[in-house]
Amino acid sequence: MSAQRQIRRKTVKDIAAAKGSDPLVCLTAYDAPTAALLDPHCDVLLVGDSVGMVVHGLDSTVGVTMEMMILHGQAVMRASEQAFVVVDMPFGSYETNADQAFLNAARIMKETRCQAVKIESGAYAAQQISHLVDRGVPVMGHVGLRPQAVNVDGGFRAKGRSQDERARVIDEAHAADEAGAFAIVVEGVAEDLATEITELVSCPTIGIGASAKCDGQILVTDDMLGKFEWTPRFVRRYGDVRTVISDSASAYADDVRNRRFPGDAETYALSKRKAEG
Ligand code: KIV
Repeated sequence: MSAQRQIRRKTVKDIAAAKGSDPLVCLTAYDAPTAALLDPHCDVLLVGDSVGMVVHGLDSTVGVTMEMMILHGQAVMRASEQAFVVVDMPFGSYETNADQAFLNAARIMKETRCQAVKIESGAYAAQQISHLVDRGVPVMGHVGLRPQAVNVDGGFRAKGRSQDERARVIDEAHAADEAGAFAIVVEGVAEDLATEITELVSCPTIGIGASAKCDGQILVTDDMLGKFEWTPRFVRRYGDVRTVISDSASAYADDVRNRRFPGDAETYALSKRKAEG
């Protein structure tokens, strides 16, 4: 009998238990090979609707569809084995009412086999969150800068600059927590607001542009790999994939144009028997 090591995928309980403990490590993933590389290092892989901007070249996440999220969610689930996988619910798939949210969340979970969904949770979303959690769908909230609200905000802006706005973000986080979210992404807020939210809510907060005071951190993987010329100020670049891709394409083009590629090592030879016969 082979003593094969069984890899256990993290569960919602593991993520929720990280409150006030070791920081949760989270990254976005959209495709199978990248998910396989990230999986051993991450507690959470988020199939973010940022896929629309990062992979499909959209100028915001508003145009992302259920079909896109399901396709990318399936790829990430296929290639990961230990990280907890969350799939974003796209704009227009959950806001109408709790029934719409459940039907779309259930479809995402059935077709991708992911462990949870994320919704950008304005105060109105508390009803959706408790409806989903009661029916077996773990929900991650998302407060502060909500990219799906880009058209009412008039751009991607940090949140909590005025007292009113600050109070609104705190209310949204409180409502998501009370409604049963197992974790909340806090995006684009100053450290003091991130600290207040993290101390207020019972679930872990996961910061993006929200200081080290959150219970975990998330970045868009392609940003931290250095794939884009411009990134938001809160991104730290851990790689320079842009240069790797551009230099590699340039070297390949040069070799092809100068007939240095393919060489003998990359060329099939006629099989011996066929050549002799
Ligand atoms: O869509 C996404 O990638 C996200 C993260 C930035 C948190 O929501």
